[in-house]
Amino acid sequence: MAAVAVSVAGLLTLTACGGGDKGGSGGGQAAQKKVEVFSWWTGPGEADGLKAMRGIFEKQNPNFTFFDAAVAGGSGDQARALLSSKLQANQPPDTFQGHAGAELQGYIKAGKLESLNFLYDELKLKEVFPQQLIDQISVQGQVYSVPVNIHRSNVLWFNPGVLKTAGIAAAPATVDEFIADLAKVKKAGKIPLSIGSQWTVVHLFENVLLGSLGTDAYNALWAPNADWSNANVTKALENFKTVLSYAGTPQEDWQPAAKQVADGEAAFNIMGDWAYGYFHNPPDGGLGKQSKTDFDWAASPGTDGTFMWLSDSFTLPKGAPNRNGAVAWLKVAASKEGQDAFNPLKGSIPARKDADKSLYKDYLAWSLEQWSADKLAGSIQHGVVAPDAWKTALSDAIGLFQQDQDVAKLQQALVAAAKAGGQ
Ligand code: GAL
Repeated sequence: MAAVAVSVAGLLTLTACGGGDKGGSGGGQAAQKKVEVFSWWTGPGEADGLKAMRGIFEKQNPNFTFFDAAVAGGSGDQARALLSSKLQANQPPDTFQGHAGAELQGYIKAGKLESLNFLYDELKLKEVFPQQLIDQISVQGQVYSVPVNIHRSNVLWFNPGVLKTAGIAAAPATVDEFIADLAKVKKAGKIPLSIGSQWTVVHLFENVLLGSLGTDAYNALWAPNADWSNANVTKALENFKTVLSYAGTPQEDWQPAAKQVADGEAAFNIMGDWAYGYFHNPPDGGLGKQSKTDFDWAASPGTDGTFMWLSDSFTLPKGAPNRNGAVAWLKVAASKEGQDAFNPLKGSIPARKDADKSLYKDYLAWSLEQWSADKLAGSIQHGVVAPDAWKTALSDAIGLFQQDQDVAKLQQALVAAAKAGGQ
């Protein structure tokens, strides 16, 4: 009986794949077809959420084998470089993680993704995701991905004990207060601000830019013909220079930089809320730290009332070798069960509006509240506002700036990047 059931399932899988299937050649092999899921969630904290969703997928889909094709490196810069060469060679994984917004629009324009309207209709997904999020993953009425979460970029993580030692009574509310506090920590002999690899500096940049300019002026920078040359931007870049002058030795990635705060070596770290999963999750995945005691958080300086958002979403690439397997994964990623398993560990809130709120405690309860009340701004580093070429030019300019500290040159490069990228 079991053998018959397995081969029928295998047959169904092969038939429905309509020729795109290069998987097993029948029987038991086909029944154990792997589903290659591409992301960059390998590191401490990040992998926990994926593992939880994988567990649900495996339970619901005994005929498929989950294949974790994650490529290490926070924020996925390394993963995306590999992904891009795979896509160019028409050798896509079965499904990959792409950020909602400009990044996903790039994949859509390049013709790399299948429309998921069939899935949205079948599962009535338009009713469960916020409309503004659906807009970010759609072109001409076609929806191209399944958003699994909402992450917040603008979080200031801090060590309460270190702040106390430095004589700082509360988290800084403005960029000016932040700069004054960084100086106090330096005097107290601790690392004022921890940073990681280069992308974490771009992450810091988007936060200082938002905090210095305010939300409306920041959002206006992404419109066609936006003015990047004005004096307010200059002031924001000067702030960035000052803030950066208090940074410690760059760590290998975001986790060791965040850990410096948790360990009391550094006072502050500006990072997305995946850091919460890392701080809070029990070892081995996380650090098992105590919220409010070992670490605490606030809106990054000058950004209270604004949620700088980003969203992880999964796609169906054209020519996915195991299309059925990919669709099965997307169904889990879209489900309430999948999102409620993934997000509390990932440090994010669900993209679905109907998730079980009681599962989101502590930082996550705060984030849910802010998400429903705050103004919105989109993240640069995590794919929301700037198409890939623009983002790369901007990151390169910031990389050079780390060496030469030349504000005027940085501003010129940002003006040029906006001109080229906004076209
Ligand atoms: C972001 C991604 C998050 C998290 C972070 C650090 O780009 O959206 O899910 O993984 O990078 O790696």
